[in-house]
This record gives sequence, C-alpha cells and structure tokens, in this order.
Amino acid sequence: MKLLHIDSSALGANSVTRELSAAIVARWQEALPGLTVEYLDLDAKPIPHLTGRTLARTDATCNEKEDELVQQFLEADTVVIGAPMYNFAIPSTLKAWLDRITVRGKTFRYTENGPEGLAGDKRVIIATGRGSAHGDNAPSDFQEPYLRYLFGFIGIGQVEFVRAEGVGLSPQHRADALAAAHAAIPMPIAA
Ligand SMILES: Cc1cc2nc3c(=O)[nH]c(=O)nc-3n(C[C@H](O)[C@H](O)[C@H](O)COP(=O)(O)O)c2cc1C
Repeated sequence: MKLLHIDSSALGANSVTRELSAAIVARWQEALPGLTVEYLDLDAKPIPHLTGRTLARTDATCNEKEDELVQQFLEADTVVIGAPMYNFAIPSTLKAWLDRITVRGKTFRYTENGPEGLAGDKRVIIATGRGSAHGDNAPSDFQEPYLRYLFGFIGIGQVEFVRAEGVGLSPQHRADALAAAHAAIPMPIAA
C-alpha cells in the first residue's frame, strides 16, 4: 500500500498543517506496518508553474517531471496533504502541483455526457490550517471547497478534511484547534 505525503506550508517548524499531516502519516504507518511513504515538500522544492511549454509538451525535462508527478499520484492509495489557507485559498506551490496532476486523459476525460474523473479509488486526507475562524460554508473559504471540487472532478468523491482553524486568534485558540484536529485524524478502514 502506498501513501503520498505532501506539505505546502511556508512556515516550517511553526506550521500547523505540517504538524497535522505528519501526525496523520505517523498514525497510518503505525496501523499499516508495510506502508510505503513518498514525500513532497512543495515549499522546499517547488514545482515550476504550468506554462505554455508544459501544455505544448515541447520541453523534455518538464514533460518527464509532469509524467512522474501524475504517475506518483495515480499509484498512491492514500494522499495526505498539508494545505494552509493563504489569502482565502491555498498556497500557490500547492496549486502548481495540482496543475500538474489534473491532466486530461490521465486523471480526467471529457465524454459526451460531460467530464469523468479517472483518479478514483484512493483516499485523500487534507490537513487544513486557517488563522481566523471561518467555519463551514463561509463565503471567505476558497480553500476547502476548491480542494473538494477539484478532487471530485478527477474522481475522488469524498475528500476528508482535518481542520485547525482560528490558530492566529490566540495561543489558546491554536492549542485547542490543534488538539481537536489531532483527535479527528481519520484512520485506515479495517480490512
Ligand atoms: C501568506 C499568508 C496568508 C494567509 N492568509 C490567511 C487568510 O486569508 N485567512 C486566514 O484565516 N488565515 C490566513 N493566514 C493564516 C494561516 O492560514 C495560518 O497561519 C495557518 O496556520 C497556516 O497553516 P500553516 O501553519 O501550516 O502554515 C495566512 C498566513 C500566511 C502566511
């Protein structure tokens, strides 16, 4: 079984989503001793933005990297992502990765009946962090709805969120939000 672990926070050791994504992966490794984990740190090693050269597939290095990222994503049974809220949405480093794995003919296709996702059959667990308290369905939230929609588009119907919010309001808010998020970590489904 393969797990792909991705972080995108720019806050290093002070990051809420890095703490949570690491805790999720550690819990899964404990529960599934044979688990293989691959890791992408999109802050330390950002993926170049999608450009015309990528779409035209005229740059061999760029094409290879994209193919590798799509393959790595498709092969993962579980994907754990640390996704902070930056300016009401996600870090551009995470968007750059999403642009590389949302590929027509590989993770989705168009049919006469509309788009069809091709990347189903995997669990996607996303640790989200927010400085303020937005709650559910807030008009200011372009983070979770965007991620839910995009992964739904490529075939993953149910994205699981582990949310720590209000972490910038006070040290107590941060501690409470982290404790609640740690308690809500989803586990593998018993075989
Ligand atoms: C560049 C930047 C933009 C941010 N934008 C928002 C925002 O729009 N709304 C919000 O509630 N918090 C915002 N925050 C606060 C972060 O969401 C919060 O610090 C969260 O913990 C980030 O996750 P991290 O600790 O894993 O980096 C922002 C923080 C940074 C550094």
